Amino acid sequence: MALKFMTAEEAALLVKHDDNVGFGGFTPAGCPKVVPAAIAKRAEEEHAKGNPFQIGMFTGASTGDSLDGALARAKAIKFRTPYQSNKDLRASLNARETQYFDLHLSELAQNLRYGFLGKVNVAIVEASDVTENGEIVPTCGVGIAPTACNMADVVIVELNDRHPKEMRGMHDIYEPADPPYRREIPVYKPSDRIGTPYIKVDPSKIVVVKTSVSNDGSPFAPIDDVTMAIGRNVAEFLVNEIKAGRLPKEFVPLQSGVGNVANAVLGCMGANESIPAFNVYTEVIQDAVITLMEEGRVKFASGCSLTVSNEVIDKIYGNLGFFNDKILLRPQEISNNPEVARRLGLVTINTALEADIFGNINSTHVSGTRMMNGIGGSGDFTRNGMLSIFTTPSTAKGGNISAFVPMVSHLDHSEHSVKIIITEYGVADLRGTSPIQRANSIIDNCVHPDYQPLLREYLNMGIKGHTPQNLKCCFAFHNELAESGDMHNVDWSKYNK
Ligand code: COA
Repeated sequence: MALKFMTAEEAALLVKHDDNVGFGGFTPAGCPKVVPAAIAKRAEEEHAKGNPFQIGMFTGASTGDSLDGALARAKAIKFRTPYQSNKDLRASLNARETQYFDLHLSELAQNLRYGFLGKVNVAIVEASDVTENGEIVPTCGVGIAPTACNMADVVIVELNDRHPKEMRGMHDIYEPADPPYRREIPVYKPSDRIGTPYIKVDPSKIVVVKTSVSNDGSPFAPIDDVTMAIGRNVAEFLVNEIKAGRLPKEFVPLQSGVGNVANAVLGCMGANESIPAFNVYTEVIQDAVITLMEEGRVKFASGCSLTVSNEVIDKIYGNLGFFNDKILLRPQEISNNPEVARRLGLVTINTALEADIFGNINSTHVSGTRMMNGIGGSGDFTRNGMLSIFTTPSTAKGGNISAFVPMVSHLDHSEHSVKIIITEYGVADLRGTSPIQRANSIIDNCVHPDYQPLLREYLNMGIKGHTPQNLKCCFAFHNELAESGDMHNVDWSKYNK
C-alpha cells in the first residue's frame, strides 16, 4: 500500500481540539519537531479567532523546545505527563495553567493500555525509515512510541533524513502482554534482544511528513571541581564495594541519570582501572558512554535514547559498523522496567534536588511547591536496583541552600529505597542503619561544613522516638530561605518554642 505524504501544516490539521496526542522520542532525542511546531502555530491561529485549541500530551519524557516549548508558549497544552524540563512549560505548570501529572516513566505505556489516561487519538513519531507495510524505524529515542502508535487512530511519521536508514537494527521494540496474561520480560543481560527492530502498525493509519532537522543536542557543560569530586567519590565507593565482595568482580550493569553529574560519574568510572569494563542498562545513553565504548571500557549499552551531543551522534552514524551491535534502544517500559532492574541487579546513580538527614529524597519540587522536572526514571531504578546511589552537590545557589535539610519538603524516594548518598565531601552508606545512625552518617560525610553545626544541633534537641524529627523546626531551613534567601540564617530558638 502506497504511503500518504503531506506537509507539516497539513498533518497538523489531523489533530483536533481536545485530542490526546502521544509523542515518540525521549528527551530531545528522537522527538518529532516540525509537526508539533505546526500544531502550536495552528493553536495560536485558533486562539486569535476566539476558538479553543488545546491538546492532552503523552510523551516519553522531556522533549525539545520545538515540542514542549512551542506548545507551551502557544498555550496549547491542556494536560501533560510525564517528565519535562522545558522552562516555558515549567512556568505554565507552576502557574497551574497546564495540568501536569508526574509519574514513573516505566508505567506510562501500560497505564495508557489499561485505559487509565483516556484515549490516544493521534501518535506523532520521528523515524529514520518507514515502509509501505507499516514498519516504522525510530531514530535515536523510543519512549512510548510503540504504544502510542498501536493505540492511535492516526500515526503521523516525521521521516527525518538526518538519521540514516542503516540504523535499522539498533532498536528492540517489545510490548509486554497485559495482565492477567503477562509473562516474564526475557531480558537476562543488557544485550538480549527480545522484540523487533521496528514498530509495526496498520499502514492505512500512517501519514508521512518528510523533514531534515537536527536534534537539540546541546553539549555538556565543562566539568567543575564539585562535579569531578562527586564522580571520583562514586568511582572509589564502587571499587571498595568490589574489594569488599559486595559487588561481583565482573561488576553489574550500571544505570546513571541525566545531566552533567551523571556524565562526570561515568567518566570517572571509566578512568578508574580497578572497575572492570562494564555494561550499561539505563534510560538515557549520554556522551560519556559512547567515549567509554570507543575506549573498550563500556562493553554494551541498552537504553531508551541516545541523548548525546550532535557531534557524538554524527560520530555514531559515521561508524555504525562499530556501534550497531553495541547499542540497543528500547521502549521506556523495558529500559526502565522494575522486573528487569531487579533481575539484572543494577547499580543505579541518580541526582537529588534535596535530601533529608534521615535519607529521604526530593527529586522534583523546589521548596516543596515548585516543580522542577519530574521524577523521571529515578523511582523505577532506585526502588528496584541492587545498589541505589543518590548524588548531589552539598549546596546550591552559591551556598545559600543546603542540599541536606531536617525533613524534605517533598518526598519522591523514601528512606526504604535509598542506600547510598554521595556528595563532593564523601559517602554516607545507609544500608542497615537506623534513623539516628543515618543522620550522623549523612551529617559527618555529606553535609557542607557550614551546615554541619546547625544539623547537629537539630539532632540534639532531645526529641524522643525512633526518628528524632522536631515537627516545630523541621522546615526552618525552607522558611529561612523564603524569608532571608539564605539557609545559614536559621536560628532554632525562633521555631523551637
Ligand atoms: N533548592 C532549590 N534549588 C535547587 C536545589 C535546592 N535544594 N538544588 C539544586 N537547585 C537548583 C540549582 O541551583 C539549579 O538551578 P539553576 O538551573 O537555576 O542553575 C537547578 O536546581 C538544577 O540543579 P543542578 O545542580 O544543576 O542539577 P541537575 O541539572 O543535575 O538537576 C535534578 C538535578 C534533581 C533537577 C535532575 O537530576 C532531575 O530532574 N532529576 C529527577 C529525574 C531523574 O532523576 N532522572 C534520572 C532518571 S534515569
